[in-house]
Amino acid sequence: MNNRNINFTTFCVIEHKDTKTTPPHQLPIYATSSFVFEEVEESIEIFKGNKSGHVYSRYGNPTIDTVAEKIAAMEGKGSEEVPFAFLTSSGMSAISTLLYTLLNAGDAVLTQANIYGGTTELFNKVLSRHGIHPVFARFDQMEELDHIIVNNPGIKAIYLETPSNPTLDCVDLSEIAHMAQKHGIVTIIDNTFCTPYLQQPFLFGIDFVIHSATKYLNGHGNSLAGVILGRNNAHKAAVKTTLKLMGGTCNAWDAWLLNNGLKTLALRMDAHCSNAMQLAVWLNAHPRVTKVNYIGLQDHPYHAIASKQMRAFGGMLSFMVDGSMEDTFEVINKLSLCTQAPTLGDVDTLILHPASSSHLNVDKDLRASFGITDNLVRVSVGIEDINDLIADFEQALK
Ligand SMILES: Cc1ncc(COP(=O)(O)O)c(C=O)c1O
Repeated sequence: MNNRNINFTTFCVIEHKDTKTTPPHQLPIYATSSFVFEEVEESIEIFKGNKSGHVYSRYGNPTIDTVAEKIAAMEGKGSEEVPFAFLTSSGMSAISTLLYTLLNAGDAVLTQANIYGGTTELFNKVLSRHGIHPVFARFDQMEELDHIIVNNPGIKAIYLETPSNPTLDCVDLSEIAHMAQKHGIVTIIDNTFCTPYLQQPFLFGIDFVIHSATKYLNGHGNSLAGVILGRNNAHKAAVKTTLKLMGGTCNAWDAWLLNNGLKTLALRMDAHCSNAMQLAVWLNAHPRVTKVNYIGLQDHPYHAIASKQMRAFGGMLSFMVDGSMEDTFEVINKLSLCTQAPTLGDVDTLILHPASSSHLNVDKDLRASFGITDNLVRVSVGIEDINDLIADFEQALK
């Protein structure tokens, strides 16, 4: 029908299409929940996956899929296979969607206790109600892990972080991948702390990678997103089905903000790593600091493993204040340049007290056994001038 013949009310409702433009320099935000078809036959072909195209943004959208492809290329750089990737609404959505895809009631997951507290809570409070149980262990003794797997035939997956949150323990990726393959179980790593710029787990034989893209991948603290990546395309359809039906898809706006962040990822990570190293050395020499967890320090127990599998040592560190929890709070409260915020990976330096925030809901004894003590402070070191950062810590520790 010609637009001239329709009434004003109808004209308001009809979507007006651009017909003149040349291709945009920057990725557009496709703010649309659905896509239109010229003919029914076309929609059937796209629904069946025989023809490329989009149907409904919960299933996929050009903005979301373009950003996912870019992260897949980053994670797969240097490997023969290009991994598959899906963007999700948050890091937690990436973790839960993947675990629900891979596991069934009666299965168990071998994991560490010193990982992101939300993941531990997901295991304890949600997945276990559906018959999927965590088995917690330390990941530094491979023989012990081997023994646990042999004695727990229900273990179908290994879920890990390296470096872990907030104590920065590292796991040898090649060794763990090799052991899992021997037992026919899958490996999943949360690569949030490293990003593919610092560590590419697929090159070491890990099967699945997840990210909280809310952190370093975005880098500016202005969107929530997650990523699920798989090395083997055989799992792609199953992950897509779970994501589509559980509905934890990303949205175009957050994907677009993430895309902006990705452009400076390498530059930002270099600056984070350089500042974290300098701050760790300074803190290590301070009389009021009893311990510094930073894998870049040569005497850190995991320095050798980190050197083997990471390009540099990252922007995260934690340290223990010589004193009580109250003394530790005082130091945190005195920091004025650094911001107290329950996130990490932004361009500015962020401080957190894990025992009373990210790991509050992890059992106190379990927490303590993994070094998450009441005097532990986690620092996500930003890209400010290092002299200003050191000056801030100096006045706070006085
Ligand atoms: C290492 C790690 N993984 C996963 C998550 C969860 O990510 P999101 O908050 O995007 O759901 C976080 C959040 O802090 C995290 O630190």
